[in-house]
Amino acid sequence: MAFKSFPFRTPNAVPMYLAPMAGVSESPFRRLCHEHGADVVVTEFLSAEGIRRENDATMDKLRFSPEERPIGVQIFGADPAAMADAAAVVTDLFQPDFVDINFGCPVKKVVRRNGGSGCLRDLDLVQEILRAVSKATPLPVTCKIRSGWSEEMRDPVGIALRCQDAGARVLALHARTRTQMYTGMANWDEIAAVTAALDIPVLGNGDIKTALDAKRMRDHTQCDGIMIGRGSYGQPWIFRQTRALLDGEALPETPSVAERFAVALAHARMVQQYEVDPIGAALEFRKHLGWYVKGLPNSADLRKLLHQVKDFAEVEKIFSTYLENFEMYRERAAAENRDWVAGTSVDSLQYL
Ligand SMILES: Cc1cc2nc3c(=O)[nH]c(=O)nc-3n(C[C@H](O)[C@H](O)[C@H](O)COP(=O)(O)O)c2cc1C
Repeated sequence: MAFKSFPFRTPNAVPMYLAPMAGVSESPFRRLCHEHGADVVVTEFLSAEGIRRENDATMDKLRFSPEERPIGVQIFGADPAAMADAAAVVTDLFQPDFVDINFGCPVKKVVRRNGGSGCLRDLDLVQEILRAVSKATPLPVTCKIRSGWSEEMRDPVGIALRCQDAGARVLALHARTRTQMYTGMANWDEIAAVTAALDIPVLGNGDIKTALDAKRMRDHTQCDGIMIGRGSYGQPWIFRQTRALLDGEALPETPSVAERFAVALAHARMVQQYEVDPIGAALEFRKHLGWYVKGLPNSADLRKLLHQVKDFAEVEKIFSTYLENFEMYRERAAAENRDWVAGTSVDSLQYL
């Protein structure tokens, strides 16, 4: 089967993307996921107005390092002129590999002003935005949609065709409606239908929790690329595992506890180097720590300790004490007849 080609260089014909995630897909995590096999990463969504006004906090979130390429900057807003200005600023100042438009965000304060998935109620506006942004930047413009605003307005193929018509070069589909938020399951049949209907590459997104899920999605939908969000929490190696399965190889083993702690510490060091406020960075990092230890024996106590850390040196100490006692925790869990299967389940977290 011929592969649809992406408008920028990707290391693999069926690329795996780290999904844009506010508060999660920040520069250090993007670098880490690249190191673990993600082919493409995207910034969290950034307000067109914030970029246009060169707001300090927004500009700070636009920083990325060369190792993060290929990278897309995701912008949101409902005013085509502001979106075009923002794309021009991003292009001039940061030169990412592509600009991505968010038509999927379900958060109230965004959709109230017709941003994110709010745009899906007005497909003329979606097209206007895509055209204005494509005109304002020489970079490829891509977009991320949901299946529709509501059940009644559910029409992923119709929406996707309008996006393609207006110049989108890649389209990611999170196959839920806005009204579903994060409930129910993503409808992978819709990803298959959109992939078949479009000439541009389509990324399948929604409910990939393990590498096996990712392979199942690809087999089920024939999507041109795979986008993983929450499934990367605390297990960036999901990308390497998925690549092996896509290449027809055996599933690489999930890292041991000591190995997963080493990854968490490497991630922490990246955050430390990147963030200017070390205490704030450590506090922000607590959520990642919780994800790294999810499912381990005695993880509730471990998480409690980790959720109190105020600097990264404490994390190292907590991990080494845990490893010294690991056999005991494991035996205790076995005695209580509780299997631990690390990294196979993900909380259904709300987007923001
Ligand atoms: C914490 C969080 C933040 C998110 N932020 C964004 C965002 O900034 N832009 C975006 O397009 N989608 C965002 N999303 C949606 C994800 O990109 C993705 O579409 C969704 O989580 C479904 O994929 P998953 O099941 O693999 O997580 C966010 C999701 C979560 C959980």
